[in-house]
Amino acid sequence: MSCFSCFSSHEKKAPRRANSARRAQLPPAVHKEPVSQPHRPVTEIPRTKTPAPAEAANKETGNNNIAAQTFTFRELATATRNFRQECLIGEGGFGRVYKGRLEKTGQVVAVKQLDRNGLQGNREFLVEVLMLSLLHHQNLVNLIGYCADGEQRLLVYEYMPLGSLEDHLLDFPPDQQPLDWYKRMKIALGAAKGLEYLHDKANPPVIYRDLKSSNILLDKDFNAKLSDFGLAKLGPTGDKTHVSSRVMGTYGYCAPEYQRTGQLTLKSDVYSFGVVLLELITGRRAIDTTRNSEEQNLVSWAHPIFKEPHRYGELADPLIKGDLPVRGLNQAVAVAAMCLNEEASARPLMSDVVTALSFLGTEPEHGATAISLPSPPIEHNMSGAQAKPEDEESMIKERERAVAEAMEWGGSHSRHKTKSRSTSASSL
Ligand SMILES: Nc1ncnc2c1ncn2[C@@H]1O[C@H](COP(=O)(O)OP(=O)(O)OP(=O)(O)O)[C@@H](O)[C@H]1O
Ligand SMILES: [Mg+2]
Repeated sequence: MSCFSCFSSHEKKAPRRANSARRAQLPPAVHKEPVSQPHRPVTEIPRTKTPAPAEAANKETGNNNIAAQTFTFRELATATRNFRQECLIGEGGFGRVYKGRLEKTGQVVAVKQLDRNGLQGNREFLVEVLMLSLLHHQNLVNLIGYCADGEQRLLVYEYMPLGSLEDHLLDFPPDQQPLDWYKRMKIALGAAKGLEYLHDKANPPVIYRDLKSSNILLDKDFNAKLSDFGLAKLGPTGDKTHVSSRVMGTYGYCAPEYQRTGQLTLKSDVYSFGVVLLELITGRRAIDTTRNSEEQNLVSWAHPIFKEPHRYGELADPLIKGDLPVRGLNQAVAVAAMCLNEEASARPLMSDVVTALSFLGTEPEHGATAISLPSPPIEHNMSGAQAKPEDEESMIKERERAVAEAMEWGGSHSRHKTKSRSTSASSL
């Protein structure tokens, strides 16, 4: 194997930081209480039936083939120079991730070696292999192959040179520049498109269930790709509105109704997306136990501010506050507030979110005329109380209006852009 550096811009030391949110089985929700302990051990082997993602065909390609290659343990040991410490690029709750180079092809890859923790890990391994073999999109990480050699379970992914969003937003070294506003919005849009594909294009739809900043990986141009499909589930089909499931996920990102009831819908992912968008806006972690108790839970802290648009500036990350478009900030906060609605039915569809975010990631050209973004919607009912039907109706109307305004704005913005750009709000 030719010599290559296993060190990378996002190299991490193991063990991971104590404040990182890890995936786990979650206890029943006590929503809005600051959570003092983000780590929960996985204590039970799931008894829920393993979904059958083999059914999850890609509507666009109709491709039902499992394309992932199989590797022997020896091949992956060679690729990672025997899982050498210098090749370690990250560690999650289920195993370590190494940078490697495949001997046969020279391709640089990320190899995730799952801990040998019995059925739980094996089930997630199978779900991940099947889901990622069947689902293909530019905003989903590409699974190159896997190894199931004896007790060893390893996954081989395309290598994402910039690591995770968490590395750049929440966990970056002091000598690194914070992510600028437009990169943040570009990442939000990429993640939204990945979810939109899972919800609207995969058939049956797929609920991702583990959206968080450490699962959004970045290529060299800050294009976002969703990774970690071990918790993904096939969504409801026919007349069903939800699938029931053991409550799994990560503290701070889990929709309150799912945490309360175990009833999983596409809107659970929309909520998690709202949390990630709020992390992008604020530069704060979903759960941060180093803050004062009233600021530890990001969503609880932001809720009162959502109700007062003139306070949206308070949400902006202080590291980039002086360098972001105020109207863009208002728009992004309005989208986050809608996604984080306590009422799942009042949350937008991911396709609405993609439309609303479509033009927030594009830096205005030098000398371009100022672009008018829609004003932030007045008053969101984010109090956490059950919405009355008439309130709900007006909330839905308000949401529709905000999205329509965003679309209209998107359309007028695209007319200002060069003709080479082919996307438009209406085509999304
Ligand atoms: N394909 C990849 N390319 C580059 N780096 C990766 C890749 N996959 C994972 N990583 C790095 O490894 C880290 C750990 O990933 P992993 O999915 O194991 O854990 P996690 O997402 O932090 O937590 P959890 O176990 O809850 O999913 C990521 O945060 C990222 O920095
Ligand atoms: Mg992960």
